[in-house]
Amino acid sequence: MSIILQTKSGEFRIDAEDDSETLLFAGLKAGLTLPYECATGSCGTCRARVMRGDVNDAWPEAPGTRQLKRHKGDVLMCQTRARGECLIRVPAVVDRKSENAPRRITGKIDQLNRLNRDVMDFVVALEDESAFAAGQFMVVNVPGLAGGRAYSMVNYEPQTDRLRFVVKRKPGGGFSEWLFGEDATGTKISLFGPLGKATFQPATDGDLIFITGGSGIAGIMSILEHAVRSGHFSASRGQLFFGVRTLEDAFYVQELAALAERSNGALSVTLALSHEAAPSNTHPTSDLIQLSGGFVHDVAARSLATTAQSVSDEAIGFVAGPPAMVDGAIRVLLGDGNLPPDRIRYDKFS
Ligand code: FES
Repeated sequence: MSIILQTKSGEFRIDAEDDSETLLFAGLKAGLTLPYECATGSCGTCRARVMRGDVNDAWPEAPGTRQLKRHKGDVLMCQTRARGECLIRVPAVVDRKSENAPRRITGKIDQLNRLNRDVMDFVVALEDESAFAAGQFMVVNVPGLAGGRAYSMVNYEPQTDRLRFVVKRKPGGGFSEWLFGEDATGTKISLFGPLGKATFQPATDGDLIFITGGSGIAGIMSILEHAVRSGHFSASRGQLFFGVRTLEDAFYVQELAALAERSNGALSVTLALSHEAAPSNTHPTSDLIQLSGGFVHDVAARSLATTAQSVSDEAIGFVAGPPAMVDGAIRVLLGDGNLPPDRIRYDKFS
């Protein structure tokens, strides 16, 4: 069905495959640079206004709807589907790109690994190969579970038919409860992506500073793998601050130690323990992982206050985590890290 998007840079006509495709995904698939961040109803960035036509809102109470003027026809494009021809006003400058547009792909859950009591990672074997930038994510849909969930890729390959994702168990979280509750191996799932702009750009990025918590480490693992593999740390340095509640909650410790080792000392990794004092200066299993007590943004602030003068002019800050953590970490990067706003890339999820 035909949809006209009226933007600040002109009108675009797109086609939604069927009435299950959201306005956002139909537009992104057509190569349009529509505004979005989470793609799953949380942030409100994909706000648009229905000027004509009938639409279906899949999640009227989504957190991202708080700022919408419902009485004027405002909707979230990531939650709205056209029921027929419609005219949608998008308050943004929009271009059309011809390369690497996101698309729908299918795959099967192939491997599940329990990382600790409430974190798991899983691999999806795709039906065909896909390319993505380190730091990007996919929206995952499972048959029988309403709505999509955004997960960043943990692995990095320029082209691959296997994607690894990490999931934290959330009480009442449909997808995580399902994954933790039964053997999901072999289940066919649908993905849309790659999405997200908090990506590593090796040609122009300098030193890398990461602040994250819990499953936010996923996309950062992908960036670190790409950075190590591309030789980025031969000329630049990296600092990772990874927040968990206790030492027992930490995961990917051996993988992070291996990345630090492969960086030849250019990457420092600090685990910030928010709910217990650090039992020692380094992790019991690796001297390459430092330990510090406190919330991750406080630990990062203390460290950056002494190192900020030595980071390169092209330094980039990456932040991933729940909205409150991301906002705190951005303040640290702007203040203690002395980074300008355009050198901070973040991924908020809830
Ligand atoms: Fe639609 Fe975040 S992109 S609410």
